[in-house]
Parts: sequence; structure tokens; C-alpha cells
Amino acid sequence: MAEELTTENPETPEESEEQAIKQRKNGLYRGVSDELADSMKSGWADTELHGLAPIAQAAHTAARRAALSARFPGERLVIPAGNLKTRSNDTEYSFRASTEYAYLTGDQTQDGVLVLEPAADEDGHEATIYLLPRSDRENGEFWLDGQGELWVGRRHSLAEAEQLLGIPAQDVRELPERLKEATGPVRAVRGHDAGIEAALTDKVTAERDEELRVFLSEARLVKDAFEVAELEKACASTARGFEDVVKVLDKARATSERYIEGTFFLRARVEGNDVGYGTIAAAGPHACTLHWVRNDGPVRSGDLLLLDAGVETTELYTADVTRTLPINGRFTEIQRKIYDAVYEAQEAGIAAVKPGAGYRDFHDAAQRVLAEKLVEWGLVEGPVERVLELNLQRRWTLHGTGHMLGMDVHDCAAARTEAYVDTTLEPGMCLTVEPGLYFQADDLTVPEEYRGIGVRIEDDILVTEDGNRNLSDQLPRRSDEVEAWMAGLLG
Ligand code: GLY
Ligand code: MN
Ligand code: MN
Repeated sequence: MAEELTTENPETPEESEEQAIKQRKNGLYRGVSDELADSMKSGWADTELHGLAPIAQAAHTAARRAALSARFPGERLVIPAGNLKTRSNDTEYSFRASTEYAYLTGDQTQDGVLVLEPAADEDGHEATIYLLPRSDRENGEFWLDGQGELWVGRRHSLAEAEQLLGIPAQDVRELPERLKEATGPVRAVRGHDAGIEAALTDKVTAERDEELRVFLSEARLVKDAFEVAELEKACASTARGFEDVVKVLDKARATSERYIEGTFFLRARVEGNDVGYGTIAAAGPHACTLHWVRNDGPVRSGDLLLLDAGVETTELYTADVTRTLPINGRFTEIQRKIYDAVYEAQEAGIAAVKPGAGYRDFHDAAQRVLAEKLVEWGLVEGPVERVLELNLQRRWTLHGTGHMLGMDVHDCAAARTEAYVDTTLEPGMCLTVEPGLYFQADDLTVPEEYRGIGVRIEDDILVTEDGNRNLSDQLPRRSDEVEAWMAGLLG
């Protein structure tokens, strides 16, 4: 990458021009003669786009903003997309807009900010999206600034953004000053844009901002039709990614778990935005490490592969799917025994997902099956009721049986207990059901044959009017069906 020539974020075109001249004089713009600078100002075609159709979810984002407006009448609400984060020196992590901003706008532009201002003469709010406009050719920002369009690509003009998003757009460089001058109550979503937070520092409180975050988390508990379609897409892409992995298991055996991670990532980048979370490609005993994302271990015939991975769509909805696969295509006897127990627990969990059921029901149903198996196998002393009461099964089941799913893999995480874990399920909620059994390699309380085996099966379940729909059912779950599916792909 060529070294870029940067300005210091000038606030006005005049300042920018002044800075450019100063820097040229200082020799910072090596090789930039006045003639070259002049040449770069002109000779560019007008590429403005007209008559753009609104994005597919424009009506949905408008409805989401209306719900937000109704909850906080008379208050200015500030929801930033976030800024680039430095990875090292002058390289950055790839940008991912904040969930709150993308949910309310359908936009994913870095540095963007949605502001809902109380309407002057009526109830409700007026929304404005603040964005960086097209790069200025006149002042050199276009090619002399690291975020100029010559370096990072064309942006939408503010007029184009308005047409696409259905929200009036203004220059984000003017926003900090406006916020500083604003009067009246303000709330902001924190943690994404330090500049915006600095502009609001004496106007907001952590407690009131938290109420905004909680509302936006709870608003996402029930998915609208656009969101359900995105989750379906995420699951379909994820299923294709799992197939990709099975087809290259021989190459993974010759290299490492990284081959599996990389193979899935290719599918995620080609069909979606990214993976929705770090892929867990855990072969052999690594399956017992719940967040195994180092993925640098060997992939051996005779072991299991626990693959927990999800494609995040271009609109930022993620799947979260786990399959535990015999690397050579056939479960051993002990692997199958453990796998089938987890499958049975997952079946019981999925059956408990329906409208009106308690959120905790699917967890309880799955844990009961696993506790029964552990008692039956003599690994823990019964009766089952005692095991469940004391949570003794947790030594091997380790984690909760699922969570809400959506734009965040652990979606709606700021929701209040009464709105989430203590609530009843409603159509449109989407959650994972993911029981597991994990026998650590050094667990001396279980017979040796169990040690180093970890199994999880995870699917993405949508609550429907009359029960549920498994969005990830393109991938087989029953042990014999897994083997038949693998046989077809391993060739
Ligand atoms: N992949 C993280 C989870 O299953 O919750
Ligand atoms: Mn999960
Ligand atoms: Mn998962």
C-alpha cells in the first residue's frame, strides 16, 4: 500500500485549503506541484446518481424509527454508526456499523450518525442522517486525505443517500457543533463514536443513555418480515459454508483447523458481509473449549470436528449454527452415544419453542434430557431431580441452551430480564437451541473413553404462530443422516 498523505480533519473547506497549502509548503505532499494540484481539481465527470429506488427495508426502518420516537417524546436521540478502529499503525479493522444504527437506518457508512430531533410543531421526531458527503475535488481532500474517495472508493452523495434511505441527509462534519449548541434533553447510544460523545459530554447521563440502549435491544426481540428473510438467507449461506467445509476435510487433515475456518470464511465473504462471530473450528479435544477460536490444531481421522459458524448477511443478520461431525465420516460407538444424547436433548429443546412458552422452557427441557443421560451412564449420582436441582449436569453441559439471534449473535443482550429470560415467547422471535456435552481431556471423573469428546448441535429457531420453524434445517442433525450427508460430499 502506498503511503497516504493526510490532512488533520479540517472542519471547513477554507481550513482544509489552508492546511493543504501549508502542508505542501512544508514538503509533506512530496511531489505535489501546484500544477499537479491544479490538475487534480478538475476534469472529473459528474457521476451523481438520480432517481434511486429506496433500499428494500426502507419502510421497515421507518417503522422502527417511529417506535423509537414514540418511546422518547420530546428528546433528541443520537445513534452513531461508529468509526474505524486502528488495527496497527495505519491499518484498520474492517468496519462494521453499530447494530443500533444499521437497524434504524439500513445504512452502514462509517462515521454516520442518525439524529431524531423532536419535531417543532407536532408530536414525534424528525430524523436526519449525518454522513460524510462526496470528497471535495477543489480542496484536494479527494486525493490527499486518507479517507478521500480516491483512496477508499466513491461514497454516496447526500442527495443519493436521502433517496436510498428515505431520510434527509446532512454533512456529519457539522454535527458536533450542532450537538454542542443543542438545548433540551438528549440521549445517545454510547461506545461507537468518541467524537460525538465528546460533543455531548455535558448533556447526557449514563443512566438515561442506558435506557435508550435497552429500548433498542428490546425492540429487536420480535423480528419483522425483512429481518426474518435475512435470517433465512444467513442460514442458507451458512449451510452452504458447512458443505464447503466437509468437501475439504482431506485438505484440513493435511493442514489444520485453519483450513476449515478459511473455507467457511470464503463463503461468508462471497455471499454475505462477514462471519457473524469468530468461527469455532474445534477438532478432537478442542471441542471442549467453548470459545476455541485459535483454530490452529490438527484435524485427525477418528476425531470429531465441532464447527460453530455463521454467515452474516450483507444487511448484518447472522446465523449461529453448530454441527459436530466425524472427521472420517463415521461416528465411533462412544461418539455416537454422546452425539445421540445431545440430539435427543436438542429435539426436546426445539419442541419447547412455541408462542406462549416460557423463554426458559427450552433450556429446562434440554437440560433434563442431558441430566437423564448422565445419570443413566453412571457419571453422576441420581435421581435426576436432585441433579437438576443442584445443577450438577453443568460440569458437562457447561453453557445455557440458547439465546436470541439477529443482527448480533447474542442479540438483544441489553434487554431487561423481564423482557428476555423471564418473558414468554412470541411469533417473530428467533433463538438458538444448542445443547452440548463436553468431557474435558483431563476430567478424571468420567471413564477414559469419554475424555476429549465434545458435542454441540445448534440450530436457529423462529417462533411462529403455531410453533416454530427451524431456519437451519438444510443441515442434517440425526447421526445417521449426518453420516449419509457426509458420504455424499466426501466422495
Ligand atoms: N457461537 C456462539 C454461540 O453459540 O453462542
Ligand atoms: Mn449460539
Ligand atoms: Mn454458536
